[in-house]
Amino acid sequence: MNTLLKLKKVNLKYQTDKDTIKVLNNIDLITKKKDTISIMGESGSGKTSLVMLIGGLEKATSGKIFFQNQDITALSEDEVSEIRRKHIGIVFQSFYLIPNYTAVENVALTLELNKFKNPQQQAKELLDRFGLKNRFNNLPSQLSGGEQQRVAIARAIAMKPDLILADEPTGNLDSKNSVMISNILFKYVKEEGSSLIIVTHDSKLANKAKRKIKIKDGKIV
Ligand SMILES: Nc1ncnc2c1ncn2[C@@H]1O[C@H](COP(=O)(O)OP(=O)(O)O)[C@@H](O)[C@H]1O
Ligand SMILES: [Mg+2]
Repeated sequence: MNTLLKLKKVNLKYQTDKDTIKVLNNIDLITKKKDTISIMGESGSGKTSLVMLIGGLEKATSGKIFFQNQDITALSEDEVSEIRRKHIGIVFQSFYLIPNYTAVENVALTLELNKFKNPQQQAKELLDRFGLKNRFNNLPSQLSGGEQQRVAIARAIAMKPDLILADEPTGNLDSKNSVMISNILFKYVKEEGSSLIIVTHDSKLANKAKRKIKIKDGKIV
């Protein structure tokens, strides 16, 4: 009842011309609603792959992934996108904002696509909450890295997702901005009662999570 995510014997392999790369091996994981979880592990250990699977951006080679008791591995791509759009907010290391859209437009787009009323107004409120009141009409290229990531977070949480997936969200930021971004993320999930899965190399940031997971060679250790 209280389960948010359940991974059962999840495997992910990539096929290249020459060989098969086993990226994730028999991952079993259960997370509860409102959990905050950090994932650490060496580069290449499979952290991003795991995030992609949970967010439905990649398909498991075998195994099952239940999100809110629904087996997303059994759904079509469109159905998975729908679940992701409504329930999961994803934040990446490189912010992936739309370059020719302003801060407000980047956030408002998500709301428009989901037929929310007054998307611009809501986008502004969110950006204001993250200290970007004076940056509404800036393009991403006119924002610092920390500001861009705050816009990306505003976009990710606009739909009030049940789960935020953050893949090294502070990986491109200096320490001051890293602290700000991690505070924003943890404050948000606390206030809204959502869950957070955060991949990071920063052990201080990882320690803010209730639960810490380590991945090695595609396995949870
Ligand atoms: N599309 C892909 N095709 C082939 N191999 C991939 C692909 N994506 C990732 N990999 C490989 O999978 C392994 C895990 O990658 P990744 O999940 O990005 O690790 P991490 O995020 O922990 O650094 C790496 O060895 C990487 O080279
Ligand atoms: Mg990665």
